Amino acid sequence: MDIKNNLIRFLDSYADKKMLRLHMPAHHGKSLNSMLSRAYELDITEISGADSLFEADGIIAEGEQRTARLYGSDASCWSAGGSTLCIQGMLAKMRTENRTLVSSRTVHRAFLNACILLGISVEWIFPERGDVISGEYALESFEEKLQFLTKQGEKACVYVTSPDYRGNVQDIAGLSELCHKYNAQLLVDNAHGAHLAFLAKNRHPMNLGADYCCDSFHKMLPTLTGGAVLHSRYDNAPELKQYMQMFGSTSPSYLIMRSIEEAVAWLENGGKKNVQSTEKKVNALRERLKYNWIGDDPFHLTISVNGLDFAEQLRRQSAEPEYADKTCCVMLLSPLMDENDFSRLESVLTACEPFPAELPPPLPKPPKKACDMRTACLSAWEMIPLEQAEGRICATVQVPCPPAVPMVMSGEMFDKNWISYMKYFGLKEVIVVK
Ligand SMILES: Cc1ncc(COP(=O)(O)O)c(C=O)c1O
Repeated sequence: MDIKNNLIRFLDSYADKKMLRLHMPAHHGKSLNSMLSRAYELDITEISGADSLFEADGIIAEGEQRTARLYGSDASCWSAGGSTLCIQGMLAKMRTENRTLVSSRTVHRAFLNACILLGISVEWIFPERGDVISGEYALESFEEKLQFLTKQGEKACVYVTSPDYRGNVQDIAGLSELCHKYNAQLLVDNAHGAHLAFLAKNRHPMNLGADYCCDSFHKMLPTLTGGAVLHSRYDNAPELKQYMQMFGSTSPSYLIMRSIEEAVAWLENGGKKNVQSTEKKVNALRERLKYNWIGDDPFHLTISVNGLDFAEQLRRQSAEPEYADKTCCVMLLSPLMDENDFSRLESVLTACEPFPAELPPPLPKPPKKACDMRTACLSAWEMIPLEQAEGRICATVQVPCPPAVPMVMSGEMFDKNWISYMKYFGLKEVIVVK
């Protein structure tokens, strides 16, 4: 049998055989809604021959190996639980190695939750410039921390988010060189960067020396929501799966896994060219339209503008952006966009009037830490108006999603400056320890 697309073939042939299904899921391949009927037929459980995600040694393992070859990683573990599950897996691995975790302050709440679940505390690095959603970080800040930890005899790992929600990327090559100089590991939240490996210049973290990174396939490639991949520089998929299964459902969706294999097959068979032609088209569009573009990733089409107003103008023309705040509007592009989509995008953008971005107040000094994150999160809590939060300790973080980037972290205290900073980003209520 051709080793290609074995998960896809298995699901198709199982659906076509019209077996008497005496197993989960209880829909037995039948749909209540004809629009979804094929999806139900293809939705199965770990029946004979279907392999099993967390102990993969069959058709899923083959798909994962193809993924690793595409990205040049030593292991690529599929996730039907998004990058969230991949982040939990990589942090659990760091925990077993007893590494001190150093992280940029620009993180998704999935990272914070994973640290809380694993009982890991974080040494934060604050940005030199920018805000917490999209900060510019100096290599020196990381080096200082790594030097200090090395002197203390501690092993470390560094975690950064790149690209961030606005499409800014960090110096991953520089960070990986730095980490390896101090015997530390580099972990990259590349949830927004699955396509980076296929740009004209490969800018994927695994190509730039990262030790681990997660890619939300569903964010940047044609995959169902929930499809993601944890890449590793080490041939350690079975070990990583052990950590991932601690957090993931024991029933990962075959539909999501199939959609990952569909994307892998598509990339192998010409999809990479689509990524590059999209890159060319968007670069040309940026040249033609004189907006104040920001961000380094071509697929995050980000304008420095009053995004709230801009997003409304887009909606009036039947276009829906990914994210908007007072500083910007982010439109996420797909390699499946055709000429027609691009000309529609161009005419919509041409018709919009950009009102200037409203800059946020300066980033306040780091908030005071009152207790560890886990203690704060697992304490009795109450939700109160942000204005009344001065002097209170943050329990779980309350952040709008997107971008789900926490500002004051669990265990830290709200002060006047952070309250006005968070107000600027539209936060109204926070959850505090009782
Ligand atoms: C930067 C970042 N990291 C991680 C995640 C979590 O990814 P997923 O939704 O695939 O679990 C997100 C989701 O929006 C994100 O934006």
